[in-house]
Order: sequence, then structure tokens, then C-alpha cells
Amino acid sequence: MNQPLKAKRILLGLSGGIALYKSCELLRRLQDAGAEVRVVMTPSAEDFVSPLTFAALSNHPVYTAGANQSPSAFQHIDFPRWGDIYIIAPASANTMGKISQGLADEPVSLCYMASTAPKMIVPAMNTAMYLSSAVQRNLEQLRNDGCTIVEPDSGRMACGEVGAGRFPEIPTIIAAVQKLLTPAKLVTPTDPSSSPAKKPKAKLLITVGRTEEDIDPVRTITNKSSGITGVSIAQEFLDAGYQVSIVNGPMDAEVPRGAQSYPVKSARDMHQAVMDLQDSHDILIFCAAVADFRPKVVNEEKIKNSRDNINLELVPNPNILRSAVEQKRSGQIIVGFALETADPIAHGIAKLQKSGADFLVLNTPVKKDSGFGKDSVEFCILESQHQLENAPSLALGSKKSLAQQIRNKIEEISGV
Ligand SMILES: Cc1cc2nc3c(=O)[nH]c(=O)nc-3n(C[C@H](O)[C@H](O)[C@H](O)COP(=O)(O)O)c2cc1C
Repeated sequence: MNQPLKAKRILLGLSGGIALYKSCELLRRLQDAGAEVRVVMTPSAEDFVSPLTFAALSNHPVYTAGANQSPSAFQHIDFPRWGDIYIIAPASANTMGKISQGLADEPVSLCYMASTAPKMIVPAMNTAMYLSSAVQRNLEQLRNDGCTIVEPDSGRMACGEVGAGRFPEIPTIIAAVQKLLTPAKLVTPTDPSSSPAKKPKAKLLITVGRTEEDIDPVRTITNKSSGITGVSIAQEFLDAGYQVSIVNGPMDAEVPRGAQSYPVKSARDMHQAVMDLQDSHDILIFCAAVADFRPKVVNEEKIKNSRDNINLELVPNPNILRSAVEQKRSGQIIVGFALETADPIAHGIAKLQKSGADFLVLNTPVKKDSGFGKDSVEFCILESQHQLENAPSLALGSKKSLAQQIRNKIEEISGV
């Protein structure tokens, strides 16, 4: 049996959440991968699954708040010192709040503070809790502290809601553990090829933001796109070592550091920039909200306010996604976006089939506190095999988790 975690010592922290029953399976699969596992639990976690279960599965006493009568009074030091890695899975909102703020009043948070090993958390909770500003703020703090976050999945949860916050699939967690425990390749001056900056994985071209179509010198036709989604995707790929070019229309978000920016204004400017840049890129993501139409005539002078009705004749803009698919070179991956407000799945499937893109990110801005200018969005990924009967449902998730899912899908297609 392939044992990628052979002889690794994993300290598994458990906090109180409904996903805790999945940690029994996680523990077993970590053992199958060759790891030795020991367990530490919050008092609340003990209400969900008994420590006895984990003691039996791990073949070792569990460190719980009531375990102070054990031979060592220093379990809060001994347990973290033993582990090559400390994973909290599931990480409850409460436990994340504590460890991000430096509180340590029970075994799981105590071990977090005392551990000098790499740390990883797997948040799992109801979508509203996960997307709350407190949880997102704590996650940001933990990321800045160097903790690895395994993003939750989107889908139907125990509470009946559909959205982000579900405990990820166990192979996803094990792959993340393996990655964190794999030593980074040493970069030496005599080995310049190993520098991620010099040997990027692939080149991404992404369109971001909105377009503006002039009516006269002071008025334009535009839309509400803020650019947050596109910038989150660009950042996700930059963090993973890709070279990123952004063709950005007007937007509220800032171009991330490290990306090459090609600012444009109208749909035709964006079309031209993409046609010029397409051949030198491996992945193209069309995330910008592009005006489908523009005024046939742009008035040179400001149209006077005469109080009469005026008719504005509109003509179609070039379809950037379709043009890119037409000149797609072998090996290139093309991703489209569709924003729909009515019958989204049916329209998304039709758009994907018509466009010929490799996959389509369908999103809808209708849910309160999501979409334009917000950090979350209702979305799903549609692929060529999807029909109405087997298409995934739209689910609310953070724009960061959308970016991560897009990268995962692209890496699955390209075999990276
Ligand atoms: C039935 C039930 C299910 C819960 N599920 C979750 C959950 O999935 N995620 C979460 O963060 N909190 C959940 N909670 C709330 C936590 O259990 C609660 O905040 C607790 O204080 C967490 O303590 P701990 O972080 O010390 O383990 C749930 C509570 C109950 C009663």
C-alpha cells in the first residue's frame, strides 16, 4: 500500500461541531497513509463523540480537559512536542476565535499555542457562521500567523442549508497534510531553475472588472462589477506560483502585486488586448463583466437635457470568449463566466455548450449580501457532461473559495 505519510506523527485536535463524526474516518485514513495519530479534544467536542472512540482508534489515551490525573501533568507540552504537525479538524468558529486571539483555556487551544510544528485547521460550520465577518477576520489572522487553512467545501449541510462551510472530502485534507509535510526544495544560487519566480508553473490571462461604453463625453454604459472575484482568482494563482496577466477594465479592487496589468476601458479594447495576449498564455479566464452592447454613435458633445425622450441605438460588442475559443491553441484551457438571474442552470448549460469553453463558472448575484462588491457569491462550476438532471446546485461561498475551486479544476484538467 502506498503510504505517503509513513512514520509521520500527527496530532489531531477536535473541537465541537457536527462534522466531528467525520474525524473518526479522517483518523483511520491518516493511519492508512502510514501516520501515527494522537488526539486532543475540547470539552465541547466530547459532547459530540466520546474520547473513548478516539482512544480506541488511535490506540493511545486522548488528551482531554478531564485528563489531568494522567502520569504527566504536562500534557499540554508533551502532546504538541510529539507531533510533526498539528491539525484541528473540525475547527469550530469558537476554537478559531480563541487560537487567533491567543487564548488557551482548554487542551486544543493550549496545544495550538504550545506547538512549534506546522499547523493546519479545517473549518466546518454553517454558511452564515463561516461567512460572518468575525470568522473571516479570524481566518485572515490565522493565515497571517502562518497557519494553513483547508477551505471548506460548498454543498448541503447538516443544518439543511446549502453553501460554504462543509467539512472537505478526506482525500483533500490528506493531500493538504502531505503537502505541508513535504520539505520545500532548497533554493541555492547554483540552482536557479528551482526558484518559483524563475520557473513559473504556467501563464494565466484573466479579464477582470467591468467595461465602459461611451454615450457622449460624460456618460457611459457600464455595470456593477467590482472586480473582487477576478482579483481573488488572480491572487490565488499568484500564490500558487503562476505568472498572471490581468486585462482589467475599470474596477474598485486593486490589481494584486506581482501581476502584469493591461488596463482597458471598452469591450472592444478588452477584446483587442485578449486577442494580442492569448497566444502567449496557457490558461484564459474570462471573469470581466463585459457590456454586450455599445451605442452605435458616440456623441462628440454632451447630449443636451431637452426633456424629450431620446432613442439610443445599440449595436452588439464582439464576444471575447467565443473569439478566444476560435483561436484556441492546443493545450490551452479556457474558462468562461456566466452571470444569470433567472433560470441560471439552464442558461449556464446553454452558454457553456455554445461557447466551447472547457468549463463555465455560473454565478448569480440575487442573494442578499452576496455578489457585486461583496466577499461572497452564489456559484457552481458547470462542465460539458452536465445536463439539467446532473448539474450541481448553486451554493453560497466566499470568493476566495471560488478562486480555489477554479484553480483545483484547472489543475485537474491540466494534470499539474
Ligand atoms: C448540534 C450542534 C452542532 C454544532 N455544529 C457546529 C459546527 O459545525 N461548527 C461550529 O463552529 N460550531 C458548531 N456548534 C457550536 C459549537 O459546538 C459551540 O460553539 C462550542 O462552544 C464550540 O466549542 P469548542 O470550540 O471549544 O469545541 C454546534 C453546536 C451544536 C449544539
